[in-house]
Formats: sequence, structure tokens, C-alpha cells
Amino acid sequence: MHADPVKVRRLIVLNFRNYPKADVKFGGGWNLFFGDNGAGKTNFLEAVALSVSGAVFKGSSRSAIMHGKTEAELSVIFDGGITRKTVVGEEAGRKVSEQAGNAEEIPRLVVFLPQEESQIDSTAGRRRLISRGLFLRSKKYAAVFSEYAAALKQRNKLLFIGKVTGMLDSDHAAVLGDYMASRALAIWEERDAFTRYLSENIADCASELGGIGTELGVALRKGGFEDESEKISLASVKELYARSLAADIRKGTTAVGPHRDNFVLSDGRGRDATETLSRGQKRTLLLSLHLLEGSAAESEKGKGTVFLLDDVFSELDKKHRSRIIARISESQVLCTSADPSVAKIMPGEALRFKVAAGTIN
Ligand SMILES: Nc1ncnc2c1ncn2[C@@H]1O[C@H](COP(=O)(O)OP(=O)(O)OP(=O)(O)O)[C@@H](O)[C@H]1O
Ligand SMILES: [Mg+2]
Repeated sequence: MHADPVKVRRLIVLNFRNYPKADVKFGGGWNLFFGDNGAGKTNFLEAVALSVSGAVFKGSSRSAIMHGKTEAELSVIFDGGITRKTVVGEEAGRKVSEQAGNAEEIPRLVVFLPQEESQIDSTAGRRRLISRGLFLRSKKYAAVFSEYAAALKQRNKLLFIGKVTGMLDSDHAAVLGDYMASRALAIWEERDAFTRYLSENIADCASELGGIGTELGVALRKGGFEDESEKISLASVKELYARSLAADIRKGTTAVGPHRDNFVLSDGRGRDATETLSRGQKRTLLLSLHLLEGSAAESEKGKGTVFLLDDVFSELDKKHRSRIIARISESQVLCTSADPSVAKIMPGEALRFKVAAGTIN
């Protein structure tokens, strides 16, 4: 590991979305990409995401290819000579064609997208948002989660057949239930720890960002367990799946387990915070979750975090804007704005790039 976390230094793209060619050298702190609607600001952040983490924000990586072209090419260069070239072809999908240096040192990304604000309002949306922090925290979590997801798919298939035919391979269902129980237990242990971390830090983080005016807390309601504080064990989780089997057959799907978890955001008076917050406050809350996601990851390993903040300043007043900048002063940040006045509130050493119709200057 380097003494300092590795940063992303340069990105060269060819035929990516509305960019025929772009070559950008980043600063180590704040980097602002400003320009009109439709200029290509979000596209450029997606280019960074695709080349660093291998995925675009939504949809398939094929959407990366400029209309009328057959291939997009991205080369990203990090500190210490680490480079990675990614080619996206119509036929082959995405492939990393060349890599040099220690890929273990490539920084992780924390991404803020304004369209995710609505995810705060739904159980599934909050689960998705908070899961990102969990995946960043530990590789073990990612491995256990994918085993759980694969088994859940199998069990649901079995239940569906049971529902439509009236016949169920109950030995198979029991084996799957036990397998899922051991993974569910591991997932819940990680989620409990992360929920505790979020709950301890979210109010302070939000108040640093300009305050939400309520005492925020996060609690995990485990899918199938009524009582939040109930101590769980392998035996009790196995029992949960076994007990739920009859009802699950009727429904044709698995109704208990971590895939049904609810991360409850409370306002300190036991009320659901998502019901009372304004849009600007929700933005602050979402950003707080992402900041904590980043710092939780950093506290686990010495890896760097790069923040991609798409359009984070819109709808926020001056105070909130400058608080965000002050709060993320130590990491590398790539942010976008359609409002040129944002350039004035950037820290002194920030780099400012003008984006216009697929060019960056
Ligand atoms: N595969 C593609 N090939 C060519 N152009 C594309 C492709 N995908 C998207 N575009 C174009 O890119 C433009 C949108 O860019 P982007 O979403 O990055 O804009 P933006 O600067 O973030 O705008 P806003 O300020 O509204 O968020 C659209 O005009 C769209 O037509
Ligand atoms: Mg945009």
C-alpha cells in the first residue's frame, strides 16, 4: 500500500456516449465539471465509473458506445503508474483489455446521483442504498450475499413449482432453508454492525452538512423477525425459514430473510423520517449516507475513496453548498453542476472544467 491513498489522475475516452474524444487530467481534491443541460456532464462521470469500477450507473455497459460507433475505449491512469484500459464492444460487451500495476490499490468509488433521492422513500430503495456501503466494507459480505441470492432464487423456483403443481420436494426445500439461514445470519451480523455505525454517525454527519433539524437514527428491522432487538442465532434463523415454508408455498415466494429487511430512518421521536423531510433535507440525508459509506470503507482498509457527485448542489442553499465542500475536503471529488456560479464556491485549489457538447476544456 502507498503511504497516501491512490487517486485517479487521468482519463482518456474514445467514442464514449457524446464524447468522440476526451482527455482529462484530474486534480487531487475537488474537480468541477460545469456546463449546460445535455452537455455531457453525467456521461463523463459514468465514464469514470465504468473505467474505475466496471459498471455504468444504470443499464448495460453497451450504452457507453457512441451512437453510430461499434466500440468505446477508456483508459484510466492512477497514481503509481497503475493503468487500466477498458473496451466496450457491441458484440463482446465490456472487457478490461490491459491492466498494469496493482489493481488492489485502485480506489473505490462513492457515487451520489440526484435521482436516487426517491429511493430513500421505499424499503427496497433504502436497502439498495445502504447495501452499497456494506459491499464496500467487506469482500466477505459480497461473497455471502451472492451465495444467499443464488439460493433464494432456487428456493423461490421450488416454491413456485410447489404452488402451481401442489407438489413440493420438501427435503430440497429444507436443505436450501438451512443453507440460506447460515448466510442470512452472516448478512445480518454485518448489517447490524453497519446499522449501528450509521446510527451513531448520521446525525453528526447531517448536522455538519448543514443540519436536518431532527435527531436522525437508523434501525434494522429484519425480514421475518418482529422484534428489532431480538437476539438471533443460527438455530432461530433456521427455524424462521422452516416455519415460513407453508406460507411461502402459498405465496410461491420466500417472504422472510435479509432480502425483506427494512432499514428504518427515524427522526428520534420514533417517527419515520422519510415522511417528514423536505427535498433539500432528503438530499442532505442521502449525501450523509454516502459520506458514511465512504468513511466506513476507509476505516476498514487503507484504500482511497473517490467521490462522484452528480448535480449535488442544485436545490441547496448557499450554506448547505459550502458545508458539503468543507465536509469532503480530504478526498478526491469529481462533481458536476449546470450552475456556473458553483465554480465560485469551489476551494482554491479545485480544478474547473467547462463541458460543452461532448468536449471538456
Ligand atoms: N450513446 C450515446 N451516443 C451519443 N450521444 C449520447 C449517447 N448517450 C447519451 N448521449 C447524449 O448525451 C447527452 C446527455 O448527456 P448528459 O446526461 O451527460 O448531460 P448532462 O450534462 O449531465 O445534462 P444535465 O445538466 O441535464 O444533467 C444527451 O444529449 C444524449 O443524447
Ligand atoms: Mg446530468
